[in-house]
Amino acid sequence: IMHRKRYCVANWKMNFNGSDIQMFLSEWNNKSLNNPNIKTIFCPSFTELNITAKLLNQSNSKIGAQNVSNFSKGAFTGEVSASLIVDSGCSHVIIGHSERRQYFGETNQSVNRKTKSALNAGLIPIICVGEMLEDREAGKTEQVVKDHLVNSIAKLTEEQILNSVIAYEPVWAIGTGKTATPDQAQEVHALIRSVLSDTYSSANVADRIRIQYGGSVTPANAVALLSQPDVDGALVGGASLEAEPFADIVKAAQP
Ligand code: PGA
Repeated sequence: IMHRKRYCVANWKMNFNGSDIQMFLSEWNNKSLNNPNIKTIFCPSFTELNITAKLLNQSNSKIGAQNVSNFSKGAFTGEVSASLIVDSGCSHVIIGHSERRQYFGETNQSVNRKTKSALNAGLIPIICVGEMLEDREAGKTEQVVKDHLVNSIAKLTEEQILNSVIAYEPVWAIGTGKTATPDQAQEVHALIRSVLSDTYSSANVADRIRIQYGGSVTPANAVALLSQPDVDGALVGGASLEAEPFADIVKAAQP
């Protein structure tokens, strides 16, 4: 049986300044959650990447950005390239989060370009896919998730996809307190794995790729979600803003 390393990602969104992060991490460091079988990834705003990297430099935790430019360098005022993100101490980047798709015009095409930029710079992209409530109610979940996935990962080589993480985030579950049931999550995660096995000839890909669940994950529902066979970790927004609940989610991910 395949053992995929679990990930717990804290998506701090646009919430934390440097002193918030310092406070969070000083509490976090008392919790000794350095389990080598779990990767914890903290994702602050661009402006706080450097300080987060300094604060975490003695730990096994990783740092991720929340967005990346699809351009690699040059006259692109206000953009942040993948290599600048690497330079700020990151190993990961969230791409195509539903908030970016909804409010900032992100499309599968831009997600695909950004994913390639991230991979070229050596960053691990966490590629987000997920249906809206009206899609689910219209019975279109499978169609929308497939469309997001296939187009977001278009033309990635086998090596590139193996260096990527997929996150299933049903939009109706984000920040709403409405979580997908473990069965709903498992169903879509299995669909994602089957699309990957149709897309890549090597069985390795579908087996090895990590698929995160995101959307109102809390300490109360984390065990049930993370015990699903195709759920490899959690992408956590609200419950990652305090050390205690996020630590409980990480504990729930312990193999
Ligand atoms: P939530 O956010 O945990 O607050 O629902 C998850 C996300 O947006 O990644």
